[in-house]
Amino acid sequence: MSEPIPTVRRCVCPGSYDPVTNGHLDVIARAAALFDEVVVAVLHNPAKQGSFPVEERLQMIKQSLAAELVGRIRVDAMAGGLLVDYCRQVGAAWVVKGLRAGTDFAYELPMARMNKHLSGLETVFLPGEPTLEHVSSSLVKEVAAHGGDVRGLVPDVVLERLLALRTG
Ligand code: PNS
Repeated sequence: MSEPIPTVRRCVCPGSYDPVTNGHLDVIARAAALFDEVVVAVLHNPAKQGSFPVEERLQMIKQSLAAELVGRIRVDAMAGGLLVDYCRQVGAAWVVKGLRAGTDFAYELPMARMNKHLSGLETVFLPGEPTLEHVSSSLVKEVAAHGGDVRGLVPDVVLERLLALRTG
């Protein structure tokens, strides 16, 4: 059965954010324009280290948020479990995701339908900003690891960390 819709319109922007990109930040800012509050949930899989520790991913997001949005955006770690349970815990009835291309849609649609099936949780898809269509955490890491220039694709704080990863 569907959950009652809370008075504060709160959404969750979930993801690995390993690391956050300008594509993610665009979606988070647009979610903040649509909802009263946004919870950026960083999936933390204890069995999988990722490229950046979860605390560092949280820090990079916090440091990259536009000052005017800080009061309405919470950045939190989601330590395993189902997204529907996390959303229930934080009182969010919506998930917001960015969609870059057809492949994103094919990946996201079953998850959106499953979340709707499990608890009535709705997913709002925002079309990705065309100039950031080619930007993903994995591609940015790969390019940066080989010395490629990813300026303008990630926030400055991430640029510094990617450089530090490369130079050790
Ligand atoms: O940035 P990503 O890796 O594409 O994010 C994927 C994420 C974290 C949104 C997705 O894996 C997720 O929702 N995981 C939580 C576990 C869960 O609820 N799985 C079932 C989804 S229907």
